[in-house]
Order: sequence, then C-alpha cells, then structure tokens
Amino acid sequence: MNIVLIGFSGSGKTTVGQELSQITGKGFLDTDILIERRLGLKIEDIFTYYGQRFFRYIEREVVKDLLLVEDKVISAGGGAFIDPMNIKNLKAAGVVVFLNEPIDAILDKGIPPHRPLLKDENRETIVRLYESRLPFYKQADMDIITDGKTAVETAEQIFLFLQEKL
Ligand code: S3P
Repeated sequence: MNIVLIGFSGSGKTTVGQELSQITGKGFLDTDILIERRLGLKIEDIFTYYGQRFFRYIEREVVKDLLLVEDKVISAGGGAFIDPMNIKNLKAAGVVVFLNEPIDAILDKGIPPHRPLLKDENRETIVRLYESRLPFYKQADMDIITDGKTAVETAEQIFLFLQEKL
C-alpha cells in the first residue's frame, strides 16, 4: 500500500516521508521530483518559462501515473491535493495523510527556498493561500498534527496508525 503525504510547503512532507520510508522499508517518491524528471527542468524554471497552468497539467499527469505505483511513500506537492481529479487519484493511489502544521509554525521556520508561488509573497497572502487550501487538505484520510513533534516522531505516529494496513 502507498502512503501519500499532503500539506502546505514547509509542513515536513519530505523529511517525514524519508523517515517513514526508512521505518516502513517502502521507497520514497516526490511528485515535484517526478515532474522535474519528466520535463528535465527545475520546478522554478517550469513556472518561469511555462507558467502555473502548464505545471498543474504535468502535475495531474504525474499524479495519474501514481495509480500504477505500489508500496511507496509519496510526497505530493502542496498544490496537488486541490484539483478534484488529483484528490480522487491520490485517494485511489493510497492512504492520504495530511501533515497538519499550523501556518504560523511554518512561517516561523521559514518557507523552503525555490517555491515560485510563495517566494515573493508577504505573510498575509501566504496565510490566505493556506486557509483557502485547508478545506481540501481536510479531505485526507488521516490528519496528523505535526506541531511540536520531530519528523521521526510524526513518522512513527503515522506508522503506528497505519500498521495494520501496511
Ligand atoms: C506548490 C508547492 C510545491 C511545488 C510547487 C507548487 C504549491 O511543493 O509543487 O512549487 O502550489 O503550493 P512543496 O509542497 O513540496 O513545497
């Protein structure tokens, strides 16, 4: 069974995903890396040269291909679990876990670099984007509050919850 991690940029999808991959022995995939490999371009460059619409189109294609993937931990880009087709396909691909990190905690740590949608935006705009996405993230199969936990602790908690299904 695949485990799909969703949540905003900076919520820990990569670090928690890599820990979970170690704990479960499942390989780790990241939709952004799959997109970069498919186009031979960095995410930032895709946004710069082709725009967000094209990025979302490729993202949808990559998500659709995940239906053929088995037994992986998958980190989905922060805007993936918004599109209705992606929501349907990601849920069909595996158990979807929302890494629920409050936006203040994310902003205090700092948004990770090279995020074209967020890099030049002020706090208020980022908070608004986060809030507009929360109702979608809440459609995950599981909601894990990550605040105050290390990536290892979060990964262990997910593992314990899912143990019987894995
Ligand atoms: C995006 C988040 C990024 C990446 C792209 C768009 C978004 O992924 O897919 O920059 O719309 O929030 P991370 O969630 O891994 O930062």
